[in-house]
Amino acid sequence: MRTQVAIIGAGPAGLLLSHLLHLNGIESIVLESRSQADIEATIRAGVLEQGTMDILNNAGVGARMQAEGALHHGIELAFGGRRHRIDLTELTGKSITVYPQHEVIKDLVAARLAAQGELLFEVSAVELHGVDTTTPSVSFTHRGEAARIEADFVIGCDGYHGVTRPAMPGQGRQDYQRTYGFGWFGILVESAPSSDELIYARHERGFALVSTRTPTVQRLYFQCDPADHVDNWSDDRIWAELHARLENNDGWRVNEGRIFQKNIIGMRSFVSTPMQSGRLFLAGDAAHIVPPTGAKGMNLAVSDVQLLAQGLEQFYRQGSEERLQGYTAAALKRIWRAEYFSWWMTSLLHTFADATPFKREVQRAELECVVSSRAMATALAENYVGAF
Ligand code: FAD
Ligand code: PHB
Repeated sequence: MRTQVAIIGAGPAGLLLSHLLHLNGIESIVLESRSQADIEATIRAGVLEQGTMDILNNAGVGARMQAEGALHHGIELAFGGRRHRIDLTELTGKSITVYPQHEVIKDLVAARLAAQGELLFEVSAVELHGVDTTTPSVSFTHRGEAARIEADFVIGCDGYHGVTRPAMPGQGRQDYQRTYGFGWFGILVESAPSSDELIYARHERGFALVSTRTPTVQRLYFQCDPADHVDNWSDDRIWAELHARLENNDGWRVNEGRIFQKNIIGMRSFVSTPMQSGRLFLAGDAAHIVPPTGAKGMNLAVSDVQLLAQGLEQFYRQGSEERLQGYTAAALKRIWRAEYFSWWMTSLLHTFADATPFKREVQRAELECVVSSRAMATALAENYVGAF
């Protein structure tokens, strides 16, 4: 097989890149290790920045997002028994949309299939070859048969546990990493949303987050030990913990309902540089991870591939590699801003095992500052909506 751009991974990064290239008349093949049903059912992110929505709309894949996504103009910060609204739109002129990542995936898969795009699911044994030459290739197994794609470029969109980052030449690489020692316990609940806006809550027992998916499904999270197991948490125990962490003085309570999914995710910050070597480029979670408190991961994946699509378009239209050469530097500006914000939101809202009484009081005072100072609230809002 021969194509112009071989893309590894059909997450938001890989699928959107393939679609953007197609709009520019550039051919690609996407290789995905899981099945179509699996990628369309995996519950992950929920918050889209306006810039992300603009990119999806301009690419012609935003119709369902506009119809079914929920536009949010603010978020709430809860602590000390009180809830405080951060008016995102008043402070920044922008808003965010809550629209599940797996729905974005469905929209992108449908667009690729409608355009007869080549999407190969359930591939295995993916290996890269010759990425330091101008004729790289990818070997893999599909439907029990060995296959190979010859391409001009290979793009690693295969997430944090993929094969493309380890295939980068080791020399000159620098990785930056931080783990937090806690995770998030996430549940999906059959019930009407408890709140019109997302609630980020700090409590001595740990962080909690109230989000939504649809008018009949809530997405709730609470800070937990990353080594804990979902089987240790009966529904009653989960509700008791959420009520304790979300208690407040105005009588508001989170709506209970049937819990139909439970999972635990670890929290880390990670950046791997450079994001390119020869004809191999990394995008999205393959190159960087943020803790989900800032709701930035999918948005970063989208902004990375937009830069890559522009670079590849310049290469094929004008024969210039200038934009591609500058990809890592251009992408890292936004990535480090999101790394900073995600770390800051995480530090502001979670309980830390090593926190001294002094650190706890400073954390509380910082939250007071954010909700009482327009300047601090604006800084949070600008970062949250992605106005940078
Ligand atoms: P992925 O979505 O990880 O896709 C990679 C794909 O590559 C996968 O389909 C995988 O199966 C495939 N793959 C892996 N290895 C191979 C291989 N060897 N060969 C072929 N295919 C392979 N982000 C936000 O912006 N907002 C949020 O609100 C938010 N909330 C989150 C909540 C949770 C609980 C979690 C876990 C994440 C959240 N994120 C959020 C982060 C967001 O989900 C990720 O940043 C996003 O999925 C990254 O997209 P990606 O395409 O880079 O990688
Ligand atoms: C979600 O709805 O899954 C979600 C929302 C906000 C976050 C993280 C996850 O910060």
